[in-house]
Amino acid sequence: MTMQLHLNIKFDINELKLFIEQNNFDKIFILTDENTSLHCLPIIKNFITEFYEIKIKSGEANKNLDTCKYIWEELFKQNASRQSLLINLGGGVITDMGAFIASVFKRGISCINIPTSLLSMVDASVGAKTGIDFFGIKNSLGTFYEAKMTIIDSSFLDTLPKRHIQSGFVEMLKHGIIADLFYFKQLLQISFDEQNDWNRYIKKSIEIKSKIVLEDPAEKGIRKILNFGHSVGHALESYFLNTDKTLYHGEAILYGMKVAMHLSIIKNNADKNILAELEIFSEKTNLAKKLAFDKNEIIQLLTQDKKNNNDEFLFVLINEDNQAEYDRRCTKEEILNALNTIHA
Ligand SMILES: NC(=O)c1ccc[n+]([C@@H]2O[C@H](COP(=O)([O-])OP(=O)(O)OC[C@H]3O[C@@H](n4cnc5c(N)ncnc54)[C@H](O)[C@@H]3O)[C@@H](O)[C@H]2O)c1
Ligand SMILES: [Zn+2]
Repeated sequence: MTMQLHLNIKFDINELKLFIEQNNFDKIFILTDENTSLHCLPIIKNFITEFYEIKIKSGEANKNLDTCKYIWEELFKQNASRQSLLINLGGGVITDMGAFIASVFKRGISCINIPTSLLSMVDASVGAKTGIDFFGIKNSLGTFYEAKMTIIDSSFLDTLPKRHIQSGFVEMLKHGIIADLFYFKQLLQISFDEQNDWNRYIKKSIEIKSKIVLEDPAEKGIRKILNFGHSVGHALESYFLNTDKTLYHGEAILYGMKVAMHLSIIKNNADKNILAELEIFSEKTNLAKKLAFDKNEIIQLLTQDKKNNNDEFLFVLINEDNQAEYDRRCTKEEILNALNTIHA
């Protein structure tokens, strides 16, 4: 089956009203967590008056089947039909899980993503990947399902805690490393204590991601480069899912990118400055610091990764011409060596 993406991304919240006027939905549901219900829903209420809110507890720990079951039951209780609309109002947990919910409810109902965290604006809500965590493994259940529209309004970021801004920022750094080093260097100049023109950077990141996913929607080839830093990153997230310590997605990915950069230097003679810049960024933000974990368990979790088999691990690495390469084979020893060299 070939997959086609539309990437209907709008930067004006008024589009929401227009879209609803143009479509004949019988009911509108808005999925929130306690933070987006408090900070973001009041803004949406200016555009939609009749809706049913489904509110869940925030955090990655709730991106699971139990929460899905609760949401599906709520949809049934409120008589949602195939003509209903689900609006996912929140960070990546809400947009990933909400789109997953929509993709299987009565074989698929329409959904709209309104990302409210920097991470979901630049990454999670663009590209049609949905998912939840299952069996202790990140995003192990999911579908490809595109929201009818993604509406980005950076004013939602005004209430987002700084640490979450920094977590989302890591995905933007990733876009820079894999596709545009000039952009990477521009991003490194940003101060988190000042007002920033986030729209400009969000648009640039979406431009990079869109170009890649449009070329390879089903992730058979080039789209894999967007997983730079995510092999070890996801393993680390799965590891911390099973503990009581909270690790944000961007933190895990920052550590994963440093490991991937180390491997790129060893195997590909990649530019050492990129790793040095990532180290400075970690120091400055204190992201992905003081993480204690069992390295052998990380290797064990890597073998569970959809992409790997037992002896060889496929990584996205950077080459000496600063190009990202996917499906680069790394051995267990090489990875253990990188995990021992890069300190969290
Ligand atoms: N589908 C994809 O392609 C893709 C890509 C990258 C990441 N992801 C997923 O995204 C998730 C991480 O996303 P995230 O960091 O946005 O997580 P999140 O949804 O947990 O949001 C982070 C926190 O910020 C709060 N929040 C969100 N918007 C707010 C606002 N405007 N004001 C105040 N608080 C607000 C949330 O309640 C939560 O506590 C992970 O599960 C990851 O796997 C998916
Ligand atoms: Zn990511």
